[in-house]
Amino acid sequence: PIPVIIDCDTGVDDALALLFAVRHPAIDLRAVTCVAGNTDVDGVVRNTLTVLEQAGAPEIPVARGAERPLIEPPRSARHVHGHDGMGDLGLPAPRRTPAEVDAVTLLRREILASPRPVTLVPTAPLTNIALLLRTHPEVTRNIERIVFMGGAAGAGNASPVAEFNVWHDPEAAAILLTAGVPITMYGLDVFTRVVVPAADVRRLRAAAEPGARLAGELLAHRPATPGSRPDDPEEDAGGLGDAGAVCAVVDPDGLVTHRLPVEVSLAPGPTRGQTVVDRRPRIGEAELHEGTREQPLVDVALDVDVERYVKLYLGTVEGAGTA
Ligand code: BDR
Ligand code: CA
Repeated sequence: PIPVIIDCDTGVDDALALLFAVRHPAIDLRAVTCVAGNTDVDGVVRNTLTVLEQAGAPEIPVARGAERPLIEPPRSARHVHGHDGMGDLGLPAPRRTPAEVDAVTLLRREILASPRPVTLVPTAPLTNIALLLRTHPEVTRNIERIVFMGGAAGAGNASPVAEFNVWHDPEAAAILLTAGVPITMYGLDVFTRVVVPAADVRRLRAAAEPGARLAGELLAHRPATPGSRPDDPEEDAGGLGDAGAVCAVVDPDGLVTHRLPVEVSLAPGPTRGQTVVDRRPRIGEAELHEGTREQPLVDVALDVDVERYVKLYLGTVEGAGTA
């Protein structure tokens, strides 16, 4: 299996990502690190530990990371993820506490100890990853790829042009992009499109197995389209969100990616936190190098096979429970 570490801000859709990762046989989830984002970092740690317990994977090491972005003040997304950051589903408190070590230390340890290069999957503001890269740059020698949920080539969500994870800590995202390892950007252009139909969500909610049932509850908390009405037959449909980035680790062919220069706007004002993706046609290597500034090349996901990822997700989360 692929050694994977998830850095998250659990988070309704981060929880969906964790459920998938612990259940997919091609993934060896070696650690989970937590960062402030959707809610405060202690809330994120609690939610993460609870989800792993509910998913039947209480042994995976979990560490607490950054309390706030490098420069920005912390800004929660409780309006999206509920007061507890995870849909206010009334989940039990976790039985265990996080690792003694902080997230950066755990990341370094697990990356360097892995017999095979690790795939890092950040689904949250990139503060922990930036601190890791600046503190222990040697980790890049054992990182296969970073598949991160963040950014957008098109419209944003936290602002007209910026996606939440990048907007929350733009400097950290800029550090990530220059890590010097292969990077896949699973941004809003694909993130918002992978939606589980209402009938599947209802079936999951009725499942006897707790992990599958939790996935159903979480999906029901994620309206597929903002502004969908209660009388809409698809009202229960829910987006996979961050979980799509983990699908991309096991099934990269479900995405259409283009290798493109990406730069994070760090300027104050309306573009701050935008991932500026250079989609100009005919931009060849020569032109890039002749440009005023060389931007890192990132595999930007611009299209996704929605049915394929929905099937992969459901088959994994439900299949494991009945195995
Ligand atoms: C991202 O922001 C968070 O609220 C979600 O968990 C996801 O990682 C989407 O912009
Ligand atoms: Ca997230």
